[in-house]
Amino acid sequence: MRVTMIGTGYVGLVSGACFSEFGHDVTCVDKDARKIADLQNGKIPIFEPGLDKLVVDGAKSGHLHFTTDLRAAVAGAEAIFIAVGTPSRRGDGFADLSYVYAAAEEIADALTGPAVVVTKSTVPVGTCAEVERILKRKRPDLAGQVAVASNPEFLREGSAIEDFMRPDRIVAGVDTDHARQVMRALYRPLFLNDKTPIVFTSREASELTKYAANAFLAMKITFINEMANLCEATGADIQDVAKGIGLDGRIGGKFLNAGPGYGGSCFPKDTLALVHQARQNGAPSRLIEAVVDANTARKKQMADKIVKAFGGVTGKTVAVLGVTFKPNTDDMRDAPSLDIVPALQAAGATVRAFDPEGMHEAAKLLPGVQWAGNAYEAMDGADGVAILTEWNDFRALNLTRAKSLLKRPLMIDLRNIYLPSEMADAGFAYHSIGRKPV
Ligand code: UDX
Repeated sequence: MRVTMIGTGYVGLVSGACFSEFGHDVTCVDKDARKIADLQNGKIPIFEPGLDKLVVDGAKSGHLHFTTDLRAAVAGAEAIFIAVGTPSRRGDGFADLSYVYAAAEEIADALTGPAVVVTKSTVPVGTCAEVERILKRKRPDLAGQVAVASNPEFLREGSAIEDFMRPDRIVAGVDTDHARQVMRALYRPLFLNDKTPIVFTSREASELTKYAANAFLAMKITFINEMANLCEATGADIQDVAKGIGLDGRIGGKFLNAGPGYGGSCFPKDTLALVHQARQNGAPSRLIEAVVDANTARKKQMADKIVKAFGGVTGKTVAVLGVTFKPNTDDMRDAPSLDIVPALQAAGATVRAFDPEGMHEAAKLLPGVQWAGNAYEAMDGADGVAILTEWNDFRALNLTRAKSLLKRPLMIDLRNIYLPSEMADAGFAYHSIGRKPV
């Protein structure tokens, strides 16, 4: 099938490369000429495990192309995906749909015949209908030949290829038989091998499903974070509580890792957008509003936790391990470090940090940080160490070496990647999340 992917951000690039791996002929379009030139030369703009190989393989097989020429890419395509950004609108937090609608206008100008236009970006309820209005207004000559469908993407950064190739489900909002057939054909390899369920819904239900999924997961994380606070106040252990509730099949054990608060490109933006959609439609969600507030407050509280464990940080050096919002990505969007590091600096600390992939991005956002070449360099001569992101590199530190480098054997572990007992044996003062300090 001939597929066009408009937008080569995370979702567009991963989806385009994976569809080409399925055997479809995919053309990825972006306005950024430098990005497209890099992609044509096999240079990937983001760090995502496995993506570089997929892009190179796709180019070699002739199934994957990159261009800035939207008109040529759209002409004759059977499925045209809109995978452009939907950032939070400055000031009010609504999803900014200007890129989506601009893409719809350009697609309308470029269509040459029957096609299904699919929104892959996370878009508020009613966006497909609006895209359809744009297409109909601009191209009355194609009436009845162009359908608009919704097909949200649930992939996670850091495991994006695996998530795309082995999804729990595909959700497709369609309102014509032709759109349904095209969606089936696109994902056919997944039904043949893994029997992935495909959930066909109305376009509105599909659009809302994406927000509901993200908001539910954000709520689950916020819930366990609040339970962690209660554990710290009562002496219970959050790992035990998470295991105890997670084994209940109705709850499930995933997304119950207490931490410094959720970040990233989706949860913060999408919870906020859902809050606004709910209010706008006269059905406000007190629950998700509370989740947003609790998570914002939590990131700030984490800096206080570190300061307290240090007994004040004025004139001290804090070694920070990990600044990205999660491991296996270089993405800094809404990373807890963006709140924590400046708060430590404001409290008088010098921050010396290391991150395996994120330092290039982070350096633009975190002024005044001393960047180290590795975890041990970050700890050398520091007054203590704080782990902000659970990179594998930090899970097996040589604790004897770490202790000899630090002025004081003090660790604050915001991801619970060490056992309190092993840290006690190693002679560390150790503060983690929802567990007794040692
Ligand atoms: C998320 C959704 O998982 C994905 O389905 C959607 O398409 C995009 O948003 P992503 O943001 O890439 O994916 O990462 P995810 O692994 O979900 O983590 C999001 C945030 O939640 C991170 O800050 C992470 O540290 C935090 N988190 C996650 C926790 O604090 N605890 C958990 O148990 C899980």
